[in-house]
Amino acid sequence: EKGTYAHYMLKEMDEQPSVVRKIIQAYELDGELAIDEEILTAINAADRLYIIAAGTSYHSGLVGKAYFEKMAQIPVEVHISSEFGYNMPLLSEKPLFIFLSQSGETADSRQVLVKVKEMGYPALTITNVQGSTLSREADYTLLLHAGPEIAVASTKAYVAQLAVLAVAAYVAGKARGNAIDFDLKQELAIAATAISAIIDSKEEMEQIAEDYLKIARNAFFIGRNLDFCVSLEGALKLKEISYIQAEGFAGGELKHGTIALIEEGTPVFALVTQEQVALNIRGNVKEVVARGANACIIASEGLEEEGDRLVLPHVHPLLTPLVSVVPLQLISYYAALHRRCDVDKPRNLAKSVTVE
Ligand code: M6R
Repeated sequence: EKGTYAHYMLKEMDEQPSVVRKIIQAYELDGELAIDEEILTAINAADRLYIIAAGTSYHSGLVGKAYFEKMAQIPVEVHISSEFGYNMPLLSEKPLFIFLSQSGETADSRQVLVKVKEMGYPALTITNVQGSTLSREADYTLLLHAGPEIAVASTKAYVAQLAVLAVAAYVAGKARGNAIDFDLKQELAIAATAISAIIDSKEEMEQIAEDYLKIARNAFFIGRNLDFCVSLEGALKLKEISYIQAEGFAGGELKHGTIALIEEGTPVFALVTQEQVALNIRGNVKEVVARGANACIIASEGLEEEGDRLVLPHVHPLLTPLVSVVPLQLISYYAALHRRCDVDKPRNLAKSVTVE
């Protein structure tokens, strides 16, 4: 029940710190992060992981690729389920398929699961719904522990997916003896606190929505590396609930065409959380500002510069997506409210898409 909350989406965004803490607990064994031994064996037996998902889950899959490649050193491909099913790429010798789905009912993903099971490949479903179709039909399941997500716009499930993917990649990496020089449990707890701090400053996000999106017809979200993945999710949130045309772009790609769309006052949200590309993305911001863009820079503490609109608490560089997505969710929420949109039930959309 949404209780005193005006919308499920607001309630679900507020739950994000506790969801991350719940995941730490759920995946803890004798004080260490752990996943089921069978699943660990299946991950470490694979020569390549294929993450299959749609929408927001696809966006968390893109971050998951970085987690598995960096922590576990396993190559990963991420595919949109409706594309993969009808145009299968050349597969590796020992693939493991990972289906990411909040609902566990997405038909596009299910048709891929059915096909790969027919082909005899192992499959793991990461879902919020125990007993869902994708969970029942896969060999293994990891649960998101996010609690029911009612709003059509996915928020806490995205953050939960990132956390569970991080745990799985970290545990697999440790089991392979990879050098991982941080304690993920501790870093996730720090991320949970950082999310709380953002949620406690909602008025700031409301003001940003007012300043940048009040009369906007379109908006751009830019970032590099992990920030690019989050930009895609930020844009999806905004278009889905406020109906403002929005696109997420890799900062360096703008000049290859999209920059032609920048006009006087075009809102551009730029994420700066990745130190190795911080200067590059700032360069991209300068390029759009020179063409009249109204740039809103959201930077991590330690990377901020004067004039940035929002500074996010410092977290481990791999975990910044869990934190940087939250202001984007909130900004979208307030933009939708200003436009009197039906936040929890946007037009033309259903919570689970059970048709192909
Ligand atoms: O339940 P699933 O995670 O499989 O759903 C996939 C998409 O339909 C879903 O993420 C959709 O994009 C959301 N409405 C985004 O907020």
